[in-house]
Amino acid sequence: MTTYKIAVLPGDGIGKEVMPEALKVLDSVGRLCGIGFDYTHFDWSCETWLKTGQMMPEDGMSQLAQNDAILLGAVGYPGVPDHLSLWGLLLKIRREFDQYVNLRPVRLLPGIPCPLANKKPGDVDFWIVRENVEGEYSQVGGRFAEGTEAEGVVQSAVFTKLGTDRILRYAFEMARKIGRLHVTSATKSNGLYHSMPYWDERFAAIGAEYPDVRMDQYHIDILAARFVMSPERFDVVVGSNLFGDILSDLGPGMTGTIAVAPSANINPEKKYPSMFEPVHGSAPDIFGQNIANPIGQIWAASMMLDHLGETEAAALILKAMTDVLSTQNAPRTPDMGGRAKTSDVGNAIAEALTSGV
Ligand code: NAI
Ligand code: MG
Repeated sequence: MTTYKIAVLPGDGIGKEVMPEALKVLDSVGRLCGIGFDYTHFDWSCETWLKTGQMMPEDGMSQLAQNDAILLGAVGYPGVPDHLSLWGLLLKIRREFDQYVNLRPVRLLPGIPCPLANKKPGDVDFWIVRENVEGEYSQVGGRFAEGTEAEGVVQSAVFTKLGTDRILRYAFEMARKIGRLHVTSATKSNGLYHSMPYWDERFAAIGAEYPDVRMDQYHIDILAARFVMSPERFDVVVGSNLFGDILSDLGPGMTGTIAVAPSANINPEKKYPSMFEPVHGSAPDIFGQNIANPIGQIWAASMMLDHLGETEAAALILKAMTDVLSTQNAPRTPDMGGRAKTSDVGNAIAEALTSGV
């Protein structure tokens, strides 16, 4: 039996409520497929920050490095500035573990009302590949003439050849892997003078290595409109850190609830552990009521298995999830229009794995 070492970081708020459901489902699929999980639980969170002034201990990264993968809930809570909690944990892990791919499926699931008119499952079904460690989210820049009339700031974006090429290449490889030979690039080379013309140039160069894959590119503004007007046209969409960030919330938003969407932060070379999390945050507005939807966290666990090479187990979780959602009287949390509790949904998916629905 293969046993994987998994670092479990529920984090803040509803992260603590949805994580147990994902572990329940993992244990269930593990029994079915003969996979073991050796969990190490970490309570790093905003609560830790309030106590210690740090989101993780000094040797936090080397503790995480001992694991095959990281399963994360959500980070951020009122009372702790978001940029401190984010740069202290989530962004730190993404960058120091070189998780340069952020991969998010955009898929309309059965039984979830779609905010776009007349769309059914299958109509909205594509992948967003977002650059995750450079681009617009950089610490390069600064403030000048502080306190004078001339005060201002400069925020620089960083696009290296290495960083740009490897994310574009990942998108083309992804298209081949899923057998949908079409990649769309998000650009804005009409407005951004240096960065996006370079992005386009590299997209053309890397694309030339994949003559079997059809290429499209759109400026980010019209691309956002096309997401909403004709989601059927997309297969794999690749974008820089900022564009990808926005598109990968717009996408899940189009599928009815961001609560079901997962997100994978991947180091494709497997030099460091990759990290899997739901798209949503810690939802302080509903924390404590046990009504958070655990599906995003459960789907994230499925993506983790896929990354670890356990494709069958990963697919079984997805199937159990969609089977449960397809049934008329499935337990649904309030965001899906029902009254079920977090654990009702987790139990139903864990049971569907072993006994069907
Ligand atoms: P949020 O995603 O936490 O909540 C947005 C809205 O969606 C809320 O009304 C919430 O109740 C609802 N929602 C989110 N997840 C849900 C679920 N699983 N089931 C049912 N409803 C759900 O985003 P918000 O409110 O902007 O941020 C709250 C905190 O979370 C902030 O501190 C923020 O920085 C942090 N955050 C962390 C993220 C991460 O860890 N990757 C991502 C987004 C926000
Ligand atoms: Mg975001």
